[in-house]
Amino acid sequence: MREEELQFEYIEKLKAYVSNLERELGHQPTCCVTTFGCQMNARDSEKLVGILQEAGYKLTENENSDFVIYNTCTVRDNANQKVYGRLGVLNGYKKKNPRMKIALCGCMMQEEKVIDKLRTSYPFVDLVFGTHNIFKFAELLVSMFESKGMIVDIWKDTDQIVEDLPVSRKYSYKSGVNIMFGCNNFCSYCIVPYVRGRERSREPKDIIREIENLVADGVVEVMLLGQNVNSYGKNLKNPITFAELLQEIEKIEGLQRIRFMTSHPKDLSPELIKVMKQSGKICKHLHLPLQSGSTRILEKMNRRYTKEGYLELALKIRKEIPDIAITTDIIVGFPGETIEDVQDTLDVIRQVKFDNAFTFIYSQRTGTPAAAMVQVPEEVVKKHFDMVLTEVQNTAREQVSKYEGQTMEALIEEVNENDSTMVTGRLSNNTIVHVKGDKSLIGKILPVQLTSCHGFYYIGDIKR
Ligand code: SAH
Ligand code: SF4
Ligand code: F3S
Repeated sequence: MREEELQFEYIEKLKAYVSNLERELGHQPTCCVTTFGCQMNARDSEKLVGILQEAGYKLTENENSDFVIYNTCTVRDNANQKVYGRLGVLNGYKKKNPRMKIALCGCMMQEEKVIDKLRTSYPFVDLVFGTHNIFKFAELLVSMFESKGMIVDIWKDTDQIVEDLPVSRKYSYKSGVNIMFGCNNFCSYCIVPYVRGRERSREPKDIIREIENLVADGVVEVMLLGQNVNSYGKNLKNPITFAELLQEIEKIEGLQRIRFMTSHPKDLSPELIKVMKQSGKICKHLHLPLQSGSTRILEKMNRRYTKEGYLELALKIRKEIPDIAITTDIIVGFPGETIEDVQDTLDVIRQVKFDNAFTFIYSQRTGTPAAAMVQVPEEVVKKHFDMVLTEVQNTAREQVSKYEGQTMEALIEEVNENDSTMVTGRLSNNTIVHVKGDKSLIGKILPVQLTSCHGFYYIGDIKR
């Protein structure tokens, strides 16, 4: 039997357990899915929600519910600490609601020491699984209902890609779309290749079909997801480049915006720049993680480009596509990083003028090569971090404000959190703009005058 069919059979079984539970509880069982980490995890969570809803659960945002699952991240230690802290709170809820079930999945679960800790200190958790067997979620839930005690099912890796299971999108008008899974790059600080496994690309026809279905269902913007989208398709039986895939996606009628992340600088092809330049749908935004501006540190990071190589690439993109926004990730405090290295990073920031940057303090990840290197003292890292942060805020402010007074198209995404008479939209270059309006505008792409810039966002007016 195909894996998909098997899982649909488990969903049927699951429905019976959930309706039993409904009788026992006297209400429709509620579920809450909490996501940590990146866009891949967010997309995985939509798959979890899809199955839970199909099985008969009602989705809530409240963790005091009948089923709670944490989809975890382990890229930095603070992500792990958050999970342990919140598990304590869940235990309190479970004491009052003995039928409550608690599950954990995602990247953190792929680490052996985490599983050991859960077994000894968090025995109230009912189900634990990892990143490789998420497509077996329905089956795992059935096992959870059929047994007592903690169920742990972690796979070391997988080459399977299971298509067409239920998904429940968080947004009606935009969606993430996985184009590949895993990573082969082994940057020396990073745990992702260990917890997400080897790189696997989806077949282009499956990706296209998924996007066509999304568009038919009202989606106007897709975000193509992969740890390194620039190496997409290399290992397929019929190899295809990322740039070629983009050209195919561009043809999908009704699709209006295409985004993607993340691009590794070492694999960004001239072909991709050309395709982006000519495209009417690919957004004017490129996330191009720098990590460090120092060639010496980049080498120790195993990033496989130099300061000069990065600069040449970024400045070429700026020249070819002048209205593009380039954003980045920077790690401060990698082992052995000195003030000279930080000066190099600051120099790249000033030359490229990043439109936005996520700056992270280096976090030691067990099992990665960098964890065994000599670490930089905390107070030194803190000082360097502040220097880098100040610099990226300066360039971001300057870059974002460049368009003040102009009119640009914005996709209206949601009602403003702080002011319900306003809605929040996003420009092609990813800048946020707040305008007067109501929820009827959500999902529409409208011309907006960028009236005034307030640091990193605009207040604007819809042009009618
Ligand atoms: N595949 C993407 C990044 C995924 S992780 C890429 O290569 O760009 C997202 C970001 O987390 C990375 O870009 C990096 O800046 C940061 N990161 C990864 N490991 C880290 C660590 N050990 N400490 C601090 N930041 C880290
Ligand atoms: Fe981590 Fe490097 Fe892979 Fe990105 S490319 S996920 S930073 S190993
Ligand atoms: Fe975190 Fe896993 Fe994403 S470790 S950043 S959730 S791939």
